[in-house]
Amino acid sequence: MQTPSGHPVESTSAARVVVLVSGAGSNLAALLAAHDDAGYGARVVGVVSDKADAGGLDLAREAGVAAVVVAPGDFADRAAWNEAVAQAVDVFRPDLVVLAGFMRILGPAFVGRFAGRTLNTHPALLPSFPGAHGVRDALAYGVRVTGCTVHVVDDGVDTGPIVAQVAVPVEDGDDESSLHERIKVAERALLVETVGRVAREGLRVDGRRVVLGLSAGASVRRRGALARVGGSRSCSQLLLGTGTPGAPVLGPHGGGGGLNVPVLGLKAVYTGIHVSKSRHVSSWASSWLAWVLGSDNGGLSR
Ligand code: GAR
Repeated sequence: MQTPSGHPVESTSAARVVVLVSGAGSNLAALLAAHDDAGYGARVVGVVSDKADAGGLDLAREAGVAAVVVAPGDFADRAAWNEAVAQAVDVFRPDLVVLAGFMRILGPAFVGRFAGRTLNTHPALLPSFPGAHGVRDALAYGVRVTGCTVHVVDDGVDTGPIVAQVAVPVEDGDDESSLHERIKVAERALLVETVGRVAREGLRVDGRRVVLGLSAGASVRRRGALARVGGSRSCSQLLLGTGTPGAPVLGPHGGGGGLNVPVLGLKAVYTGIHVSKSRHVSSWASSWLAWVLGSDNGGLSR
């Protein structure tokens, strides 16, 4: 199968993962290194960044993964930017969204749209030292052990239910940089393992507890039904993408049927396509984009 422009379209039965990055992207690199293994169960299909110069964007493009920039400065206010990020992520029809060094807070509109299927990696043992300076704050406090946490994103800052953690000892003579580098070694392994497990086995949130695995009744499908959290939202709300924590995520891509990219309304570079802010994409471009981006890597950068 080929795109209209002749690029190969890859298909996969793996869970579709969209990764959000702001910086160098070493965690993204680890996911990209893992996702070619058919047994891994997850595949990075898109990368979104708030920064045009984020190293993670280059890593994505080198790996043939579509990369998108949604810079806050291009939008009138935070709510508009937040909505644009959500739309940019939605284009890739994610089963799972991973914040890997994404240094901005996403508002309830984003969190609600991808509720129960958004993970964040943080360089400290939460609930200690949340926020943008987890390593610095732990060091300043004088802890002898810190580490990293992968958690489900909720409306708070680094407050969501914890999926996995690894401890990293603080060594005499550590500064923020040396400690962060050691944490990142542990963090990459933890993130790769956790994303793979969530993709393969499913995830269920039960209050503050996160349970992985089919035995938890989490997932009946390898793709799509990745997350199931107790609650009572209706199916139509889920189909509309308005599910919140408490809503079962039932089908692929939150259950939405078909491909639909009518309005991007954001400044996005889908590796070769530039969509201007707030411009409605014409119907042919919409269908083409939808068709191309419906593939795993867009095939656009090949
Ligand atoms: C990671 O250590 C991640 O935990 C941290 O930024 C680093 C990104 O590294 N995130 C936060 O501090 C979020 N509060 P990377 O760009 O090399 O993956």
